[in-house]
Amino acid sequence: MRVYCAENYAAMSRRAANIISAQVITKPDSVLGLATGGTPVGAYQRLVECYKEGDLSFAEIRSVNLDEYYGLSPRHEQSYRYFMQSNLFDHIDIKPENTHVLNGLAKDPAEECAKYNQLIEDLGGIDLQLLGMGHNGHIAFNEPGDDFGLETHLVTLTERTIEANTRFFERKEDVPRQALTMGIKNIMRARRILMVVSGADKAEAVYKAFCGRVTKEVPASILQLHPDVTLVGDKEALSKLIEAGVAVCG
Ligand code: GLP
Repeated sequence: MRVYCAENYAAMSRRAANIISAQVITKPDSVLGLATGGTPVGAYQRLVECYKEGDLSFAEIRSVNLDEYYGLSPRHEQSYRYFMQSNLFDHIDIKPENTHVLNGLAKDPAEECAKYNQLIEDLGGIDLQLLGMGHNGHIAFNEPGDDFGLETHLVTLTERTIEANTRFFERKEDVPRQALTMGIKNIMRARRILMVVSGADKAEAVYKAFCGRVTKEVPASILQLHPDVTLVGDKEALSKLIEAGVAVCG
């Protein structure tokens, strides 16, 4: 695992965007696995700037998103499809038909999940998977205790995740209780993983994920077994990892 420690959120975002840009430049038809949440927003902004400055094109890029709230329409402002459109897709030259987000309104969630697994396979697998991490160590919406062997599935969100995501909704009751998510198995099959973390409130989760035991109780801990992980964080989020003596680059 490579760990990059950035001075602050802006520097972390630039570093993450540089890594994604390098992937896009070296393989213009890459399959990018994309993530939502507050943490990657700065990296997406930087990618949009690079595109506008003429340094990057997404014309041949295909994307698959990690997850979607179950029950939200793609037009709902808090849906992850809406998030991706407004933070990235609407501002770059990616072809709409090449962007894929699970359908939160699917009548048959099991069928939607099976279709998504097939789609990822048909695309040839994920070249670079971007990830954030929840305070309880969740990745995508794989919550503590979920089986590591699962592919895309319907999940019931934990109280802690609902609490954490309440900030994006008017009221806690508005946060969907279920989501469709890629499973750990899909994520672990990605050829490269890029995780972004920011803020002191993530330090404990980051420490447990990368210095603790590999356990279902901390879903991100499985990444210790992936051969190509890059962790980019600001110094607050990485503080406990650094205290524990994990080597970091610039
Ligand atoms: C949500 C998403 C995750 C994301 C997590 C952390 O639960 N499903 O993919 O990593 O939030 O979000 P944030 O970056 O806002 O802390």
